[in-house]
Amino acid sequence: MKKIAFFDTKPYDKVWFDKTNTKYEIDYFEGKLNSKTARLAKGYDAVCAFVNDDIDEKTINALADFGVKVLAMRCAGYSNVDFKAAYEKINIVRVPDYSPYAVAEHTMALLQTLNRKLHKAYNRTRDFNFSLIGLTGIDLHGKTAGVIGTGKIGRVFIDICRGYGMNVIAYDPFPAKDTDINYVDLDTLFRESDVISLHCPLTEETKHIIDEDAFAKMKKGTYIVNTSRGALINSCALLNALNDEKIRGAALDVYEEEADLFFEDFSGTIVKDDVLSLLISRPNVILTSHQAFLTEEALENIASTTIQNLDEFFEGKELTNEVCYYCDKQKVKDNCRKDRKKRCF
Ligand code: NAI
Repeated sequence: MKKIAFFDTKPYDKVWFDKTNTKYEIDYFEGKLNSKTARLAKGYDAVCAFVNDDIDEKTINALADFGVKVLAMRCAGYSNVDFKAAYEKINIVRVPDYSPYAVAEHTMALLQTLNRKLHKAYNRTRDFNFSLIGLTGIDLHGKTAGVIGTGKIGRVFIDICRGYGMNVIAYDPFPAKDTDINYVDLDTLFRESDVISLHCPLTEETKHIIDEDAFAKMKKGTYIVNTSRGALINSCALLNALNDEKIRGAALDVYEEEADLFFEDFSGTIVKDDVLSLLISRPNVILTSHQAFLTEEALENIASTTIQNLDEFFEGKELTNEVCYYCDKQKVKDNCRKDRKKRCF
């Protein structure tokens, strides 16, 4: 029986993987995967990891030395994996599509919580405070949503915005061909949007796509929503934009420096991240801790796709969901090595 070392385990992961898995011996480790904890994977055939594991070159080399052949990411994004270092050492598979609805619906939930101040209303009424002072929001109907990244999640979010009667504009360097999405350049999107929502991956090009310059181009009173990856926004620039009242508020499910914080309970300790502390203290910032994916449907899909990815690997089949270093580097699907070898290497 093949052995899987499962890192950064939460109780909900175990529930869905135990339901789905029938053929692998899975050992669940609570700790995150990094260059120090990689030795726990000695003697395992595969490793299963998540968004905030630190899978840098050192970690990859350690895993390869310990005989791990495949890294199964149980998430869509892989910006925490040095997949260049993994090339020709460890095949990497992921779950590209587990529920775009989970993330897009959470995006709108966050935006409307911020806009209609539901977080404040909830606390007030629990205290029998029925005052409405300070709870005024805006109609989203008729406003312009600027969507950055029109992949699976961005497109579901666009549908939701249209359901609200919003006008939608979008930016994506690889526009979808089969849609009526109104694509504009980034500057136009910054200039015209009342709500800007990020749905692109974190790459060298997209890091800090929302920075001081971007804020300067926005109209006053824009809402910023980020359920993609924290480093898409320069957090200090965001704080400045909030302080200057340039933007109306920020709804965040991700944070640039979330890796050592999110998914854990720090309620009894002093968190020494001043930027995060300042952001959380602002009345017009709402933050959830990377929970947009967390629905039953998504967890079930994550478990079943991960098991299918491992089956394909161990049965020598083509890896449907491989993170392909060569293609990603070339950005040319025509040269894909998988066409010849069924795998990136
Ligand atoms: P996708 O791959 O279907 O779509 C990403 C889109 O971004 C593509 O259309 C691509 O062309 C576009 N893009 C690439 N570079 C860009 C750039 N420079 N500017 C604008 N757009 C660019 O990915 P999907 O499934 O829609 O996911 C989007 C992101 O959502 C993921 O990368 C991940 O970071 C995040 N995510 C967050 C979750 C959460 O729980 N908060 C859960 C799942 C994904």
